[in-house]
Amino acid sequence: LTPPLLDAQGRTMTYLRLSVTDRCNFRCTYCSPASWGGKKDLLTPEEFERIVSVFARMGIRRVRLTGGEPLIRPDIVEVSRRIAAVPGVERVAITTNASHLERLAVPLREAGVTQLNISLDTLSEATFRRISKQGEFATILRGIDAAVGADYASLKLNVVVMRGVNDTEVPDLIAYAHARGMVPRFIELMPFGQGTPVPTAELVDGLRTTGLSLVPEDEQNSVTAGPARYWRAHGGLVGFISPLTQNFCGGCNRVRVASNGDLRSCLGGRAQAPLHTLIRGGATDAELALAIRGALGEKPEGHRFTEPGAGASLLSMMGIGG
Ligand code: GTP
Ligand code: 5AD
Ligand code: SF4
Repeated sequence: LTPPLLDAQGRTMTYLRLSVTDRCNFRCTYCSPASWGGKKDLLTPEEFERIVSVFARMGIRRVRLTGGEPLIRPDIVEVSRRIAAVPGVERVAITTNASHLERLAVPLREAGVTQLNISLDTLSEATFRRISKQGEFATILRGIDAAVGADYASLKLNVVVMRGVNDTEVPDLIAYAHARGMVPRFIELMPFGQGTPVPTAELVDGLRTTGLSLVPEDEQNSVTAGPARYWRAHGGLVGFISPLTQNFCGGCNRVRVASNGDLRSCLGGRAQAPLHTLIRGGATDAELALAIRGALGEKPEGHRFTEPGAGASLLSMMGIGG
């Protein structure tokens, strides 16, 4: 179990993304709604704790819970509490659509969750309906305000930018986030569903023509352990996640467990170890660690999202959790 946890390219893995469910109460166009499964046989809070404790002994320090929508699990507070208590785990974060935050922002913070990334692509109810199909816009806005009031160390706003859908809202979304002490981040659409991406450079140029001054942030690592690159604007930081135009795979530090309990070594890849099946079959911690190292030995150099037809070979975003 001794760290470091290295992959095939010699990169050190320190960040674990756990998809706790593939179910979601929205049906966003970019998130492959056709392949929604609604799997019932999910990992239990005890099984998550066990998996995280094995990873933590191998050097994982940050854990992010994703989905589907993680907060629709009735036991999400218990899952969070158990993971936050694992020795070695320094930060526990959740990526959520905010629909259950009004009720859960405070209990999750009390359970030890330190950071929330909240997905909000638009400030227009009509556009929200077009993108997300389901969900109540006013509830989401109230959920965000509950999170703002709940003393998190970091709150980020994730915006997937789609041409002709929400690409003109970037300045308004920056103002909305900064007014609440959140860091807005604009994401290039990856080919998991429908929609046309907008290159980050185009967004940055557009913001400059509105008169916004953007200065690259030097100390990227103090802000992120992930793919976002940050700029400083008048009201705070602005982040961009640019898998298509500024590949960040060379610095990859992450490993994923999908909602079916399979290890996925890369968001765009296939190498896997069936951790859930191994646990239910009585595997020891050493056997789990061996399976984890084996899968990471096949971790690809990076995704191939820019290759023609890339989307067709991908698994569902809802099962892997982004
Ligand atoms: P921080 O640790 O707070 O920076 O979070 P994050 O950006 O790593 O996670 P989040 O769940 O908020 O995801 C934001 C966007 O980044 C989503 O579109 C994810 O799919 C994407 N993303 C996260 N990790 C990776 C990765 O390893 N590779 C790629 N290609 N995209 C990623
Ligand atoms: N491309 C980029 N980001 C996506 N997300 C979901 N689908 C896509 C996609 N096709 C984002 C969500 C959420 C995060 C987990 O991934 O908006 O913020
Ligand atoms: Fe790492 Fe794969 Fe994401 Fe690239 S696409 S950053 S290699 S997980």
